[in-house]
Amino acid sequence: MAQYRIAWLPGDGIGKDVMEAARIVLDAIHLDADYLPGDIGWDFWCSEGDAFPPRTVELLKGVHAAMFGAITSKPARAAEAELAPSLRGTGLVYRSPIVRMRQMFDLYVCLRPCKAYPGNPLNFGETIDLVIFRENTEDLYAGVEFSPVPAELAATLARTSKPFAPFKDLAPDAYAISCKVNTRKGSERIVRAAFEHAKRAGRRKVTVVHKANVVRATDGLFLEEAKRVAAEYPGIPMDDANVDAICMWLLKNPRSYDVLVAPNLYGDIISDLAAQMVGGLGFGCSGNIGEKLAVFEPSHGSAPKYAGQHKVNPIATILAAKMMLDWLGEKAKAERLERAVASVIRVGKARTYDMGGTSTTLEVAEAVAKAL
Ligand code: NAI
Ligand code: MG
Repeated sequence: MAQYRIAWLPGDGIGKDVMEAARIVLDAIHLDADYLPGDIGWDFWCSEGDAFPPRTVELLKGVHAAMFGAITSKPARAAEAELAPSLRGTGLVYRSPIVRMRQMFDLYVCLRPCKAYPGNPLNFGETIDLVIFRENTEDLYAGVEFSPVPAELAATLARTSKPFAPFKDLAPDAYAISCKVNTRKGSERIVRAAFEHAKRAGRRKVTVVHKANVVRATDGLFLEEAKRVAAEYPGIPMDDANVDAICMWLLKNPRSYDVLVAPNLYGDIISDLAAQMVGGLGFGCSGNIGEKLAVFEPSHGSAPKYAGQHKVNPIATILAAKMMLDWLGEKAKAERLERAVASVIRVGKARTYDMGGTSTTLEVAEAVAKAL
């Protein structure tokens, strides 16, 4: 039996292309692993009404880690329309499998390194090296949503919340409510993860991203917990910034930032911005990390228009595999893989379209495998 059991979840769209590429590299580095394929994604929603079927949940309970490609998600009504005819009108509701997976396995850290590899023509700056810690299980992504709005909820809000007044006479389907739910525990542990990382990796400072001046209850709580945790790490300075301001500052002075920590939605937004500064979606990778399980993926989606064409950049997914090696404790292999990626980028012979080249997804993977 191999040392590691890895769930292998390509998903759909270009998820399949980039995972095929990642596998070439993992095989070349001889990780002693069994890769166990799992069903996830749009096809399974359409055919069986569940994009994350119970058998895949079971698979994840028995593995050391998982690699995940990408999946297509659509708004509720569009999703309903694509269900197999026998499943339509049965009350099935589409919920993003990746959000469900994060909550079900309590993968509370979304870790997103954004590092510029020298020689990448898409770099916004050559020395950018940021690490984002995004809270991954709560906030506006908690999945507590109402559309139409139930009468009891409207009545409670009319009674208890002054700012609700302008909405109180609206018909239930004339508006919708998505709840931003932030807990002390959830806030505390993501900030702690950021500080622990900063300590281990010798990082300069931690920046807390929020909007506490407007979103007072939830972001106020997040900031309060952040300050409490920061006090336990006197050697690592903490500062904080509003989410809108940080988008501007990150572009203006990317080198002034190091580790950033944010609630779910803001973390999602700043990670796409930061990913673009180091080459775009073809380079953004992420780890969804809990105490028992971690799932690694590129940050990009399923880009349906490129599906199956082996055209897109596999580097994000290869870097996700590097993160997995780190998490498994395979430091030497992780470093070797990162050096190989850096050298392929620097040499510049194997490049996909987004980098101005004509190489295929698999050719880039093979170049990385060779550079190992
Ligand atoms: P997307 O990330 O799939 O693609 C947007 C554009 O970015 C593409 O058209 C392409 O030009 C570029 N791109 C993405 N990945 C690339 C790569 N590896 N190399 C080169 N260029 C790349 O985002 P979009 O179009 O908004 O969403 C498509 C579907 O993916 C939607 O159904 C969405 O819900 C889903 N999605 C899934 C995610 C996941 O599985 N974790 C994350 C984001 C979106
Ligand atoms: Mg995103």
